Amino acid sequence: MQAIDALLTRRSARALSEPAPDEGALGLIFSAAVRAPDHGRLRPWRFIVVRSGARERFGELLAAHLRRTHAGVGEESLQRERLKAFRAPLIVVVAAHCQHLAKVPDIEQVLSAGAAAHAMMLAARALGFGAMWKTGGPAYDPAVKAALGLEPEDAIAGFLYLGTEAGEPPPARRDEWRDLVRELAPGG
Ligand SMILES: Cc1cc2nc3c(=O)[nH]c(=O)nc-3n(C[C@H](O)[C@H](O)[C@H](O)COP(=O)(O)O)c2cc1C
Repeated sequence: MQAIDALLTRRSARALSEPAPDEGALGLIFSAAVRAPDHGRLRPWRFIVVRSGARERFGELLAAHLRRTHAGVGEESLQRERLKAFRAPLIVVVAAHCQHLAKVPDIEQVLSAGAAAHAMMLAARALGFGAMWKTGGPAYDPAVKAALGLEPEDAIAGFLYLGTEAGEPPPARRDEWRDLVRELAPGG
């Protein structure tokens, strides 16, 4: 697949199943991630792979977050939350560990993690895999971060769900950019 085709046809997967990217594909996906633009070469990215039985643990983290933030939440909702971890055979938590520097503000390091996540989605697509990018409350929860081995100030850019999609996603519109672009006029 040409790079321009991967860029123009990227869509979130609707549903994902086995097979997950294997070690070779995952290596290429991470190689693409660390080609993200990185001001100051700080390498702020952190990646946590969640697969197989660890998805159960991840689902419990999501459910525990829901329980903490919604008093009296029912078992049905908790179970729905747990099942989110099984939306795909493999999840990569993409995070930024920011160094607090005047020259490279934290936002630039988080943006770099976002760029890495996008590169991962595109690499997955080019390799024949589908992806979804999710966050939600758990991405901002210090307890979830701690359980994932992250520090409270680390920023989770996304939970990337990776796997194989049945069929092609519907084509994206090509003209969506038109009302977002304007040109700065020359002169004062
Ligand atoms: C930082 C970030 C967080 C997101 N979090 C969620 C989320 O928690 N739930 C969700 O349904 N979509 C989330 N999205 C949006 C989807 O990943 C997706 O891009 C959007 O639904 C548009 O669909 P498309 O990717 O097919 O164009 C997030 C996107 C970004 C960039």
